[in-house]
Amino acid sequence: MSRKITEKRKQKIDKVLSQRQKDLTLVMDNIWDPHNVSAVLRSCDAFGVFDVHLYYTTSQWPDLGKKSSASAKKWIRRVRHIDAESMISQLRQDGGQVLRTGFSSTARPVMDFDFTRPTSIILSNEHNGTAPEIAELVQDEIYIPMHGMVQSFNVSVAAAIILYEASTQRRKAGMYDSPTLSVDEIEGIRKEWYER
Ligand SMILES: C[S@@+](CC[C@H](N)C(=O)[O-])C[C@H]1O[C@@H](n2cnc3c(N)ncnc32)[C@H](O)[C@@H]1O
Repeated sequence: MSRKITEKRKQKIDKVLSQRQKDLTLVMDNIWDPHNVSAVLRSCDAFGVFDVHLYYTTSQWPDLGKKSSASAKKWIRRVRHIDAESMISQLRQDGGQVLRTGFSSTARPVMDFDFTRPTSIILSNEHNGTAPEIAELVQDEIYIPMHGMVQSFNVSVAAAIILYEASTQRRKAGMYDSPTLSVDEIEGIRKEWYER
């Protein structure tokens, strides 16, 4: 059933689609808490992430309910995976860099990465960190420097900080000024979004 949409909302949708960054993605590696997942999706929407990859092998994809805090899920395409190898090779297609969060001696701080490159960032489970099969396949570790007593950020905070750095670099490079989605892609998605 087609729904009446105002000109203002159409313009908003068109603008958001024109700024979506098709080549900046995030992987949720078994993040189980629905509040964290909702918060991560909200940040993805705000920073223009087009799709997120869901790697759920040891945790269930959480029920996000219909709360307004979960509403960002409507605007982010979600791609499910259960096989780490095929997911990582998909993400590496066309030379994209794949980064996982981590603190080993070879890990580099978030400011050291070039996020204007096609990039996927893997954020991991609240208790266990990166899934071992992902750690085996992805060598590049990224961390946000911390100077406090506590060892880690909440995962949704970490996602927002990394995406902020990525979006700052991309904004400076003018990457929000011209669409990364093709005209045909935007045309297809726009119709769907007008109905939401
Ligand atoms: C609460 S932390 C998990 C801590 C877990 N005990 C571990 O060994 O990784 C949840 C997730 O938030 C992200 N995270 C938290 N602090 C971070 C930091 N300083 N730099 C990068 N990612 C961080 C990582 O993705 C991490 O897996």
